[in-house]
Amino acid sequence: MSQHDDKVFIKHFSSIIAALVVFTVAIALLALYIHGQLAPGENPSHDARIQERIKPISSVYAGEEGRAAIAEAQAAAAASRPAAFDGSLDGEMLYNQVCAACHASGAAGAPRLEAADWTERLTKGQEALAANAISGVGLMPAKGGRSDLSDEQIEASVAYMLGQVQQ
Ligand code: HEC
Repeated sequence: MSQHDDKVFIKHFSSIIAALVVFTVAIALLALYIHGQLAPGENPSHDARIQERIKPISSVYAGEEGRAAIAEAQAAAAASRPAAFDGSLDGEMLYNQVCAACHASGAAGAPRLEAADWTERLTKGQEALAANAISGVGLMPAKGGRSDLSDEQIEASVAYMLGQVQQ
């Protein structure tokens, strides 16, 4: 090959390279332009992530709606809590498990299962005695401190206690 041929080759080769560079830049600019024209795509999981990040830390319970929400939450909590002693109405068992803590020894002036401790109290009648045991009386806390017991369970315990002293 002569030197002339080399020059021609380099000239053609340079023009091809230059054309390719121009073409590349043109394609890049076109891509940028098209990208700018497109509406941003909707991405549901992206939106969900944003909602998750900006959601309030806790709910504010206010007004009627708040009261209803609180009542609902309390009802749900109460329903999910297992009944104390499986809701058993076995007065003797309940007395031994709960009431005997004070009533066996007479702690804090609790009437023991002895007739003498009850003569005066019995004049109130069993219903009033049970009501006092449920709401608390003197140094006795409501339901003997076991608010998880039902009213019926307290009534059963009182019935057992009175049965022991009324013979
Ligand atoms: C923390 C101790 C304690 C526990 C536990 C307890 N009591 Fe009492 N109870 C007392 C005391 C003290 C009194 C006396 C209150 C007074 O008349 O001032 C009392 C009184 C009573 C009376 C008589 C109330 C009246 O009006 O005269 C009844 C009935 C009674 N208790 C039932 C129960 C039953 C049922 C339980 C178990 C579910 C129980 N108590 C658990 C301390 C206790």
